[in-house]
Amino acid sequence: MLGNFTYCNPTKLYFGKDALENLHGELQKYGKKIVLVYGGGSIKKNGIYDDVVKILQDEGKDVAEIAGVMPNPTIHKLREGIDIARKHGVDLILAVGGGSVIDYAKALAVSVHCDEDPWDKYFIRFEEPSCDIVPVGDVLTMVGTGSEMNAGSVITYPEKKLKIGHVFADESVMPRFSIMNPVYTMTLPKYQMIAGIYDIFNHICEQYFSGEDDNTSDYLAEGLMRNVIEASRKAVVDPTDYEARSNLMWDATWALNTLIAKGKSTDWMVHMLGQAVGACTNATHGMTLSAVSLPYYRFIMKDGLPKFVRFAKAVWNVDADGMSDEEIAAAGLERMKTWMQELGLVLHIKELGATEDMLDDLVNGTLILDGGYRVLTKDEIRDIFRQAM
Ligand code: NZQ
Ligand code: ZN
Repeated sequence: MLGNFTYCNPTKLYFGKDALENLHGELQKYGKKIVLVYGGGSIKKNGIYDDVVKILQDEGKDVAEIAGVMPNPTIHKLREGIDIARKHGVDLILAVGGGSVIDYAKALAVSVHCDEDPWDKYFIRFEEPSCDIVPVGDVLTMVGTGSEMNAGSVITYPEKKLKIGHVFADESVMPRFSIMNPVYTMTLPKYQMIAGIYDIFNHICEQYFSGEDDNTSDYLAEGLMRNVIEASRKAVVDPTDYEARSNLMWDATWALNTLIAKGKSTDWMVHMLGQAVGACTNATHGMTLSAVSLPYYRFIMKDGLPKFVRFAKAVWNVDADGMSDEEIAAAGLERMKTWMQELGLVLHIKELGATEDMLDDLVNGTLILDGGYRVLTKDEIRDIFRQAM
């Protein structure tokens, strides 16, 4: 049974090959002072930077830049950006990039007018902003996180080996607008493309593998998963397949704009395990998830057996004739593994740089949540990481 919920998503999306044209109109809604945030330089190579800067100039904006936001953005980079934004003044933060750049822009948005330390306030105490929030808009260049239509922000503190996400309750942290041109994602290296694809798939799994009811969210989740599988198979063969790449972009947004979590419990333990791997290795987010997923799902399968059976039949078309429920569920996970291998995803954390002597940090860096089919103990987490090695 669906529980009580409120759904409000204020992000305005512009989708398609001509989406950037809409940046003109959006910029006219804000004052002159713009802070332009981007990553390590991909947007300069593929021309997106020039196109965006031209529009900013045409609209007469006064722009300060925060360049070099790294994948898995750090608290140190955030503090540097807060200084830049405060000195320049800021009416709008324009993020051009993937999840790292957009997450960073949101963390900046809630910190510029706040005197407290952002790490302690937002990522340790998980407080809501108690100051003015600067509006954020974005031009999305990498598909996976859903950051373009949610209030999540993930920041890493490398020296503490902690990578922590905060999903803000305040909807004004969400981007006011997101510009989504699937063509922009075609310059992504294959490794990033497939990492993003698995990130999408796992966001859906995290919201699907919990609860025992039969609700709208689960049917939406199954439809999205089927499309991610189909489109990903086409995209790895031909990365320029516009239909496949645009479907993946749209799937990613719906996978994590909070819709499919409404009225049901959610798990998120794969992300907690993956974030611990990310904190210790700085590996690509989607790959940290792919490397821990199968050991985790095999471990909890018996606790959520009916849902794993449903997953095998509805998502992977397992023909259940003459099989026990456990066999059906295991066959579903086997098909998932075959698909992951087909894409070329990482299935072992060792390949991401994790070593046995990191086990204590991995276990201690894993936040234990209670929304899924089983609340893990520290020893069980250690076992799962060992299986994932
Ligand atoms: O930095 P540049 O040079 O731009 O290169 C980036 C980066 O190296 C490159 N890239 C992006 N668009 C490109 C491109 N290269 C060529 N052509 C393009 N069009 O791709 C690399 C990865 O980018 P990044 O933004 O780090 O990837 P992603 O979108 O996967 O974001 C990962 C971050 O988002 C967090 C992750 O933890 C991680 O920190 N997440 C955010 C979530 C949210 N806001 O809800 C949820 C997710 O579960 C996730 O945790
Ligand atoms: Zn993710």
